Amino acid sequence: MDIQLVGVVGIGLMGSGIVETCARAGFDIFAREVNETLIDRGLTYLRGSLDRGVKRGKLSQDEMEAALARVKTTTSLTDLKDCDLVIEAAVENMQLKKTIFTELDAITRPEAILASNTSSLSITEIASATERPDKVLGLHFFNPVPVMPLVEIVRGLLTSDETLEAARAFGARLSKRIVVAKDNPGFIVNLLLVPYLFNAIRALENGVATKEDIDTGIQLGLNHPMGPFALMDFIGLDTCLFIGDGMYQEFKDARYAAPPLLRRMVTAGLLGRKSGRGFYSY
Ligand code: 3HC
Repeated sequence: MDIQLVGVVGIGLMGSGIVETCARAGFDIFAREVNETLIDRGLTYLRGSLDRGVKRGKLSQDEMEAALARVKTTTSLTDLKDCDLVIEAAVENMQLKKTIFTELDAITRPEAILASNTSSLSITEIASATERPDKVLGLHFFNPVPVMPLVEIVRGLLTSDETLEAARAFGARLSKRIVVAKDNPGFIVNLLLVPYLFNAIRALENGVATKEDIDTGIQLGLNHPMGPFALMDFIGLDTCLFIGDGMYQEFKDARYAAPPLLRRMVTAGLLGRKSGRGFYSY
């Protein structure tokens, strides 16, 4: 299948990054949000990130304008009917995702591929909401999408070889490195990331070191761009908790059990950068 027109459902932080990456790679985009306010917010993210790219010399002003010209927005899912590939980047709620996939299944051509950017929900279960589970898969991007070089492809139980190969080719056109995981909770990256992040919180709770020293230890000792506390603030503490809870529910393994401090912080509204305060203040 030759992918030309890409639909993106949800243009929050991840969705707008996906839109940017696809538009810069030359794809035409139809981006859907539920209302005009969220469309405006998504376009503000998009322009802000492209501007940053221009200022850093990653693309020219002309390339930025050309990328923006490839992006159309809509509040109607039906407008995505001619897309060859639709990438869903809505909130992490299984029922909502299933509803979106059922609708996409009804409106798109039978050969269109339907992908989810979910970071932890089951692709097989999302695919069960469609009549084309062979054409459903996970395309898991990383934040910030235009900067992070990886896309994790997640293969549901019924995803076909043909769909997998089309997704690989699409990832290559985005200049992303591809890794393929089966539909196992956490896929590859979050399977390893979540216990690491939770262990950092446990170390803090146990008084091993301050959060600053734990972050510095990891940053300078392992050459990571961010230590675990800065990274959790960056990802969003609510997202970390959501992913951990989902994995714990499936594995019933203490490595994925959220430390009480994380849950308390989320309850208190300390969500990280997006709320102005998490482990650090912004
Ligand atoms: N397009 C292209 N490049 C861009 C860009 C854009 N729109 N915006 C910024 N860049 C480039 C910059 O030019 C710079 O490149 P350079 O090193 O060649 O100059 C690079 O991106 C970094 O940008 P900044 O200098 O603005 O920012 P920092 O150097 O402070 O890095 C960071 C910020 C990239 C966020 C870095 O701290 C980092 O990599 N942190 C870790 C992020 C991470 O781990 N993300 C994954 C989270 S997990 C996830 O998403 C999965 C989910 O399921 C939880």
